[in-house]
Parts: sequence; C-alpha cells; structure tokens
Amino acid sequence: MLAPAKINLALHVTGQRPDGYHLLDTLVAFADFGDRVSVSAADTNSFACSGPRAAPELDTADNLCLRARDALRAAFPDMSRDPVAIGLDKRLPVASGVGGGSSDCATTLKLLAAHWKLPIDVNKLAMIAMPLGADLPMCLQAAPLIARGIGEQIERLTEFPELHLVLANPGVAVATPDIFRRLTNKSNQPLPPLPAQRDAATIIAWLDATRNDLQAPAISLAPLIGDCLAALGHTGAQFVRMSGSGATCFGIYSDRQTADLAAQEILRQHPGWFVVPTRTGGA
Ligand code: C5P
Repeated sequence: MLAPAKINLALHVTGQRPDGYHLLDTLVAFADFGDRVSVSAADTNSFACSGPRAAPELDTADNLCLRARDALRAAFPDMSRDPVAIGLDKRLPVASGVGGGSSDCATTLKLLAAHWKLPIDVNKLAMIAMPLGADLPMCLQAAPLIARGIGEQIERLTEFPELHLVLANPGVAVATPDIFRRLTNKSNQPLPPLPAQRDAATIIAWLDATRNDLQAPAISLAPLIGDCLAALGHTGAQFVRMSGSGATCFGIYSDRQTADLAAQEILRQHPGWFVVPTRTGGA
C-alpha cells in the first residue's frame, strides 16, 4: 500500500504551546508517489526495509512502522496477537519535509487495523497515533486538508484540484527541531480563507499570498535549498516552495508532460538529487 508523500503547500506558524510545540496552519495535499508498506501473516514478527532509500538507521526497533504495530497492540491486546511481517519499501528521502516516516506509520496502522480486523476508524486511529508524531493525523487522512493546532485539528477539503508537481531534494537531511529553533517570529497570521472556486489557477494565486514560514530558517541552515527552488523555477514551474521543514521543495506545473520534462532537466543538471514528477490527489 502506498504511503504517500505529504506536501505542505502552505505552512504558517501561528504560535507556540507551553510544551514547546508550534501551532501551525497548513494546507496539505498528498502525492501519488511515496514509500510502500506491506503487512502479512507470519510465524514470527519481523520487519524488513528495502528500496532505493533504505538505510541501516531505518532497520531498528524505533522505526515508526514498528512503533505503530506496538501502539496498536497496546490498544487492542486481545485482538492483535497474531505475528506479522512488515515490509517497508523506502523511496522517499529520510528527514526531508514530506512526512515519509509519518506516512509509513499511518499506512502501517491502517494495514494492521484491517489485518487484525480491529473495530476502529481513522479518527480513533489518529488518537492512538498522535504520540508517534504531529503529522500522523494528517497522514492518516491522505487527502487534501487544512491542519491546525500542532497538526491534530483536521479539516478535510471537499473541493480541491489535482496538481502536477515535481518534488526535488538536494540531498541534505534537515532535522525539524533545528528549523523550528531558528524561527524568529512564531506568531504569524493564519492562512487566508481558501477561494470559493478551487481550480489550479485560483489555488496558485492563493498560494502566492501565503508562505512556508519554515523556508527561510531552512535555507539559512541548508543554502542548497535555495538552489533547489531556483532549479524548479528555471524549468517553467508556475509556483515553487519548500515543503514542511525541508529540504524537499516542489514546483507546480501546468500538466504532467511539463512536469516530466522539468524533472528530466533538473536531474540532468543535478544527477545526485532526488527528483520525481508526481500528481497530488484532488477532492
Ligand atoms: O512530532 P514530530 O515528530 O512531527 O516533530 C518532531 C519535532 O519537531 C518535535 O519534537 C518538535 O521539536 C518539532 N515540532 C514542533 N511543532 C510542531 C511539530 C513538530 O515544534 N507542530
């Protein structure tokens, strides 16, 4: 099952809670590209990580797929005893602002809830998942939405266009807490209301009036992010921005073919970067 990349199309930091977590107002969509998670019945519990982005540090007991399994077992001890083999095909760069680990975790929760036939819906899964990361409630939805609070207040959008994107990451891993620490202003305005009519053109015009408040602190820590945004801008993107706390950036293109050609051109110039054309799901 696809664990889709989460794209923060806009992200305003609007405050900070006493426990240090930041209050956000973020418009999120999900790509048709991501990691893949599998769950199957097995004689013993196991976890195997493979794929182009597999790394030794992912193959440990604190991987979010295993923490998802253990959290679900703790919540349903009698119904979740059967051993399971969990497979993670890692395709998204690690620590890259597109919610890879959170999406893997959310997908594992959904697959295990179905496998063990647990009586639980997405909203209850979100309550179990929240301690595993602030992005978990949005990744469980995997559809266009606005998230507020620290990410736990979800407003699913009933109308939203599909967007053709290129995701590009210059190969720098960025730790989210480091970026939040560099924020100078933590009480920005919330997002403006979305336009009533939502097609790609009106959403791009709306995005022009919004920000990712984490982008400037991320560029100051990892200047290559600026190069990445410029590379997207030079290939005909109608709009470019960084997602989450970076370093992955996205460009929005008029159609799939333009996005494909842009991705090829960026890869030609930067063969070491992670670059994929993708489409975000609409509502
Ligand atoms: O919970 P999650 O793993 O997504 O967040 C990682 C870190 O990012 C947190 O420990 C916190 O330092 C920071 N963070 C924050 N405000 C948020 C989300 C994350 O300060 N809303």
